Amino acid sequence: MGAVIKVDNISKLYRLGMIGNRTIVEDINRLIAKIRGKENPYLKVGETNQRNTKGISDYVWALKDINFEVEEGQRFGIIGKNGAGKSTLLKILSRVAGPTKGSVKLKGRVASLLEVGTGFHPELTGRDNVFLNGAILGMTQEEIKGKFDSIVDFSGVERYVDTPVKRYSSGMYVRLAFAVAAHLEPEILIVDEVLAVGDAEFQKNA
Ligand SMILES: Nc1ncnc2c1ncn2[C@@H]1O[C@H](COP(=O)(O)OP(=O)(O)O)[C@@H](O)[C@H]1O
Ligand SMILES: [Mg+2]
Repeated sequence: MGAVIKVDNISKLYRLGMIGNRTIVEDINRLIAKIRGKENPYLKVGETNQRNTKGISDYVWALKDINFEVEEGQRFGIIGKNGAGKSTLLKILSRVAGPTKGSVKLKGRVASLLEVGTGFHPELTGRDNVFLNGAILGMTQEEIKGKFDSIVDFSGVERYVDTPVKRYSSGMYVRLAFAVAAHLEPEILIVDEVLAVGDAEFQKNA
C-alpha cells in the first residue's frame, strides 16, 4: 500500500487585484528569464501572505513549500485561518488550478465538491441537475438512471426533486450535489467547506 495522494513541495503565487493573472510585459520578462535559464523574476517578489496587513507587492504566496502524503483509507482535513490557502490547495488537488512550483500525484478516481452548487444549473430541476451533474462528473445516462433513486434518497430532498434548484436552500443544494458526487464512487473525494451548510443530520451521514 502506498500513498494515494503525494504533494511534493508545491507553492502557488497569486497576483492580487487582477482578473487575468498576467500582463504582456510580465509574460515577456518571464520568457526572457526562461531563455536565459534564470528563475521567473516574479517568483522572487511574492511576499508571505498576511491577509490583514497591506503588502508592498501585488504578488502573494497563497501556498509555500507544501509537502504531505495520504495513504489509502486515510481521511485528512485542512485547518487554517481565512485566506490561509486551504481552498487553493484543494483546487490544485482537483486540478482546477495548477501549482506555480512543485507537483501533485493522485492515484484513483477523483471527485470534488469545491463550492456550493458548482455544476448545478439554477433554472433546472433537481432531477435534471442530477443527470447534468452526473454526466459532467463522468457517469453515463444508464448509470445515473440506475442510481437515481438512491441519489435522491441519500440527498433527502425527494419532495423538491421536480423544483428548480434556485428555490432550494443552500443546505438542500449541497445535499443533492453531495449525493451525486458520492454515487460516483470516487476513490478520492475532495470537499471544500461544502458540508458546513448542511444540517447536523446531514453532516453526520456525509
Ligand atoms: N484567483 C485568485 N487570485 C488572486 N488571489 C487569490 C486567488 N484565489 C485565492 N487568492 C488568495 O490566496 C490566498 C488563499 O486563499 P484561499 O485558498 O481561498 O484561502 P482559504 O480557503 O484558506 O480561506 C488568499 O490571500 C486569497 O486572496
Ligand atoms: Mg476556502
